[in-house]
Amino acid sequence: MPAALSHDAPTGTWLLTTRSTSYALRVDGQGVPRHVHWGGPLTLADAASLPLAGAGPRSSFDGRTAASEELSVDGADRYGPPALRVRFADGTRALTWQADGHEQPDPRTLLLRFRDPHYPLRTTLGYRVHPDTDVIERWTELTHTGGADDRADDILALRADSATLSLPARDDYRLSHAVGQWAAETQLRRTPLPYGETVLTSRTGTTSHLAQPWAILDAGDATEEHGQVWSAALAWSGSWQITLLRTPDNQLALNLGAGHDAVTVTLRPGETHTTPPVLALHVAEGGFGALSRAWHAHLRAHVLPHPRETRPVLYNSWEATGFGVTLDNQKRLASLAASLGVELFVMDDGWFGARRDDHAGLGDWTPYPGAFPDGLRPLADEVHRLGMAFGLWVEPEMVNPDSDLHRAHPDWVLHFPHRHRTELRHQLVLNFARPEVTAWAFDWLTRLVADNDVDYLKWDMNRPFSEAGWPDEPSGRGDRLWFDHVRGYHAVVDRLRAAHPRLRIEACSGGGGRVDPAVLARTDQVWISDNTDAADRLVIQHGYTQLYPVRTMAAWVTDVPNQQTGRSIPLRFRFHSAMSGVLGVGGDLTRWRPEELKEAEQLVAEYKTVRHLVQHGELFRLRPPGDLQRLTAVQYLAADAAETAVFAWLPQPRFGLPPAPLRLAGLPRDARYRDQRNGRVHSGAALLERGLDLDLPHTDWASALVHLVRL
Ligand code: DGJ
Repeated sequence: MPAALSHDAPTGTWLLTTRSTSYALRVDGQGVPRHVHWGGPLTLADAASLPLAGAGPRSSFDGRTAASEELSVDGADRYGPPALRVRFADGTRALTWQADGHEQPDPRTLLLRFRDPHYPLRTTLGYRVHPDTDVIERWTELTHTGGADDRADDILALRADSATLSLPARDDYRLSHAVGQWAAETQLRRTPLPYGETVLTSRTGTTSHLAQPWAILDAGDATEEHGQVWSAALAWSGSWQITLLRTPDNQLALNLGAGHDAVTVTLRPGETHTTPPVLALHVAEGGFGALSRAWHAHLRAHVLPHPRETRPVLYNSWEATGFGVTLDNQKRLASLAASLGVELFVMDDGWFGARRDDHAGLGDWTPYPGAFPDGLRPLADEVHRLGMAFGLWVEPEMVNPDSDLHRAHPDWVLHFPHRHRTELRHQLVLNFARPEVTAWAFDWLTRLVADNDVDYLKWDMNRPFSEAGWPDEPSGRGDRLWFDHVRGYHAVVDRLRAAHPRLRIEACSGGGGRVDPAVLARTDQVWISDNTDAADRLVIQHGYTQLYPVRTMAAWVTDVPNQQTGRSIPLRFRFHSAMSGVLGVGGDLTRWRPEELKEAEQLVAEYKTVRHLVQHGELFRLRPPGDLQRLTAVQYLAADAAETAVFAWLPQPRFGLPPAPLRLAGLPRDARYRDQRNGRVHSGAALLERGLDLDLPHTDWASALVHLVRL
């Protein structure tokens, strides 16, 4: 195995070698970090002999090629979108690169240093590779090198992205990305990449329902199973921006960074701003399916806190009891949930303060005496007695104006002094950039967990930012709250986890409004949408799993008609949809008929026989969701191919005809598998070539789970 980082001093070329890809860059004669290659494997000699990306004659009107620098900066003859745009106090805009050495703090990390020849600004480009995956991490550090005593002026960064990534010029390029809105998150879109600049962004202060901070690119020729694909994701849980540039001569570069267009960074003398990391991943073959599996493997190996843990079957009270939770109704639901085989019972919103609806009480985190006269302990004890773990809903970053907290600390919310405070869902955002606010949040959360033996928290966040001001910020730089609120949220979660190592946390923001690799690094599962319609959910899950592991994807079976869509889908289909993720139940079990409870119990038990495959296996998307008259199917395969589980759904079969046999993926051809439904034995080759008979019923909302075990 070649070294992860190697250097050719005569040409200034650096080669980063991952398991099966290479990334090369060169600090050129002028001290500018230039891009050379990102793709299939190269030797150092290959890399040193390659021309710089985008090299070649250009007219004086076109300026310097935009897709060629490792961080595209503003200034000189550059006319593309800058990843780094600085303005110095004398009005000078633009950065001039001057190489200032490098460091290798460990064999897999490279720090390239640059300084401005005139102004006190050091720019460090960080690169990290991993021994076992093809992910390359990139970030940037900006340091104001002026001393506090020399009265140097502040430096303003109007844009401070983490990285620029350049792709090889190809005749065609396609962009795959996720769009969404509340209750309709992570919908995959695959479109030709327009020429010019394309911006994907969140301005909400959160990762957002509207878009995901990742982009997947291919040369227009990749499929689910074949072809070369490039991708990048930003590990950041606040506003963000990805700017893609496609030039008429088909060069392509993307800038990824935290903060949207209006967010600036002001550096005081001596300060350093470190951007969040971008994770870049290329697969040389295997298409979008291989790319997703590579992302899942990386996130499991290097990001998720407890990747090997199997997530329990959960019950959540939200759709059953809404804000009207009481000790009695929760105990009744808990007892029914336990009888189904549920392992974790979560009481959702409504248990605290004056919270009988969404108008009041947020911020007052003591149990509502009318519902819990002796506190939460009696419920926690009962849930534990039933053999389940106990979970609670919290929304620490929010406050209702009608709350004791807000009456005591009206200045703790994001606001501008002369502007109306816009309420969304009758609530305001607490400023988690303020240390006293995060100290308060940690204090009540840690007591809540310790005093009530809480095993699990669902951490929700139910509105985006507005009037994002911090008028009494001590240094007068209120803008930093866009970064520091997110850091405050991360820090409280990190402290809580450290203080309670057995505590597990679910990430939620009105469904999937805040999911990104930084959230995945500090939570155990994600509530990916408030839309629990089993068919819509297949679409949302398809988009979610493009990057994020199934092991983090919570899904509940709820009542019909569905609360969001009004659609009534049979229980079995609803279960099969949720069983293809981390299964949960969210219906009002007190209204389920005995035969429904019985069927649910059987399906929960069946889930437990395959969940090790669903949660820890390799995902193959056999048929994407689309038209309701077409089959949707996914397959989960054990790492050693000893077992596989296949889920298939056919909402509206046509003409009473069965779908064609479903061709499976990833199986060794000579292995033999027994279908656990009927005992039939098939060779791997037969399942790959001819396919599996699903034996779906000829009814609407047909679905199947097939478990195949190797003989
Ligand atoms: C939004 C979440 O997505 C729901 O599951 C539920 O927890 C509500 N908030 C409670 O207010």
